[in-house]
Amino acid sequence: MDATIEKDRTLSRKTILHMFTPLTHMSPFDVNMALDAGYEHVVPYTEVTLGDIGNLVQDAIFSRPPDAGVATGIFLAGKDAELALDMLDAAKKAMVPPFKVSVFADPAGSFTTAAAMVAKVEKTLSKLHGRDLKDARIVVFGATGVVGYCTAVIAAKEGAKVTIVGHDGLVRVSSIAASMGKRFGVTVEAADGSTDLKKTDLLQRSDVALTAARAGVQVLSKAQLSSAPDLLVVADVNAVPPAGVEGLTVNANGENLEGTTIAGIGPLSIGNVKYKTQAGLFEQMIKAEKPVAFDFQDAFALARGLAK
Ligand SMILES: NC(=O)c1ccc[n+]([C@@H]2O[C@H](COP(=O)([O-])OP(=O)(O)OC[C@H]3O[C@@H](n4cnc5c(N)ncnc54)[C@H](OP(=O)(O)O)[C@@H]3O)[C@@H](O)[C@H]2O)c1
Repeated sequence: MDATIEKDRTLSRKTILHMFTPLTHMSPFDVNMALDAGYEHVVPYTEVTLGDIGNLVQDAIFSRPPDAGVATGIFLAGKDAELALDMLDAAKKAMVPPFKVSVFADPAGSFTTAAAMVAKVEKTLSKLHGRDLKDARIVVFGATGVVGYCTAVIAAKEGAKVTIVGHDGLVRVSSIAASMGKRFGVTVEAADGSTDLKKTDLLQRSDVALTAARAGVQVLSKAQLSSAPDLLVVADVNAVPPAGVEGLTVNANGENLEGTTIAGIGPLSIGNVKYKTQAGLFEQMIKAEKPVAFDFQDAFALARGLAK
């Protein structure tokens, strides 16, 4: 075939993103993000199981020549970090070189949100206290949720001493901490945060408190924060009033919480980095010269460079 015709054909290839979710709806947030980042076509698939991934990926890879792999993307959504990572593994295993496509997992935006929160905390610790995440005592509230889960894993992988807190006791968080250890080789402690007293006690033994609880739930009060002398930074991802941390404004960007010396990071400051991280990873997929596979570690690597 004439080389010019082949080149034109390659240049005119549409970018297509196949978006898989185990839920009944694909997230409109993720659809908008993908299109705004430059994908020309996005196609949602709902109620996708782990067992479906292999066939769907192979259906996608064999319909275009190998050099079109970079113009074909797969996005893994949902509301479960471990399932999304299992789907990512299944997608990678289903590739048949040279037939490969790009894959990005970000269930409920959790990988990019958690990456942004930890990156903002890291930057704040460094700017205000000349410290990094290593050995920082970090307590995570809401870690049975997908954002909290991922936040805990990213921080633990950076060498922080992470404790995940159960608002309903120790049982579920203990099993989640064990699962994190097995899957990621990290040590994560579990703690009972079912009463105000227990939460206060945890704060008094922490350098950093991160809240990723259900939207509109206040997790920590001013009184609890004021009684925690070692606490350096508190960050919250919930943008729906009331704030997860009493007194923390949505745009807080390292300023001290009123009446304390604790630096606060609010949900919109985190959301700004989250948005740029998710958009940036989609753009990297579109511009990649070879198919790529992105998970929360790639999100954290990018967020670190974006956090100010
Ligand atoms: N700023 C951003 O850019 C951004 C982006 C994405 C998400 N978010 C926010 O991040 C937060 C977490 O999202 P998600 O998807 O991980 O939510 P999720 O899966 O619903 O998890 C929420 C967590 O909050 C816990 N929780 C529920 N009630 C609680 C209470 N009374 N006290 C303490 N914890 C409680 C849940 O425990 P159970 O397991 O018992 O339900 C779970 O651990 C939400 O507020 C969401 O709006 C922010």
